[in-house]
Amino acid sequence: MSTELLRLWDEQQAAYVAHRENRFTAMLDVLRLRLGDGFRVLDLACGPGAISKRVLSTFPEATAVAVDYDPVLLHIATGVLGAYGNRARVLDLDLVEPGWGARVGPVDAVLSSTALHWLSPGQLLEVYREAAQLLPAGGVLLNADHLRFDDASPALRDISARHDELTQQDSEALTYAEWYAEAARHPEIAALMPERDRRFADRPPQPLAPLEFHLAALRAAGFAEVGTVWQYLDDYVVFARR
Ligand SMILES: C[S@@+](CC[C@H](N)C(=O)[O-])C[C@H]1O[C@@H](n2cnc3c(N)ncnc32)[C@H](O)[C@@H]1O
Repeated sequence: MSTELLRLWDEQQAAYVAHRENRFTAMLDVLRLRLGDGFRVLDLACGPGAISKRVLSTFPEATAVAVDYDPVLLHIATGVLGAYGNRARVLDLDLVEPGWGARVGPVDAVLSSTALHWLSPGQLLEVYREAAQLLPAGGVLLNADHLRFDDASPALRDISARHDELTQQDSEALTYAEWYAEAARHPEIAALMPERDRRFADRPPQPLAPLEFHLAALRAAGFAEVGTVWQYLDDYVVFARR
């Protein structure tokens, strides 16, 4: 069940993120070139385990801690990553709660995709600070997300929005809401839905945090080198090194 739901999740996410797999490839390349083969990864807001699964299957000596706050996605991630035995740990954790890093422990890389836009700019800065504390000097953070253009870039914002619409129109994948409905056909997942609804009831959409905000926040959080390793329109993989 978990593997099939991850497959449907990957299809559904690819309808919102045009070149999603290329982002993951960029992340894996950075890990290989920066950290070699054996390293510890933190998968921030892991969902059903998309990043962790790719890391663990690509690097047989790597370990992953996958954290999220959605009980449905945590249940699926636990099923998917169970295949990797004690190389994978799944933690139920709210990134908005201060001090979450103490439950994770030291890692060599922090990775995230399509997730940190859930946080307000202030919460994002705190998450970057907490992540920085988990990394040794030289450790890296990679965040793949849509970083929307603001009023200063109206043409780029328009092109990006229209490209998103076309990507979604061309896809035959489930929508985000349809994916949850499909998952809830499994009774053990249906049982987790009320808790999911309760946890996310007070999480309103957040103001835009364009690329410049992320780079400034990462510097303020203590990263020595910041930049991007991949971009397509308003979709980036942001890089930061301790
Ligand atoms: C669109 S999903 C992306 C999942 C996965 N990284 C991927 O790319 O497939 C966004 C994730 O952020 C998680 N999330 C949102 N707010 C969170 C918070 N405060 N703490 C932990 N996870 C959170 C959601 O539960 C969800 O799993």
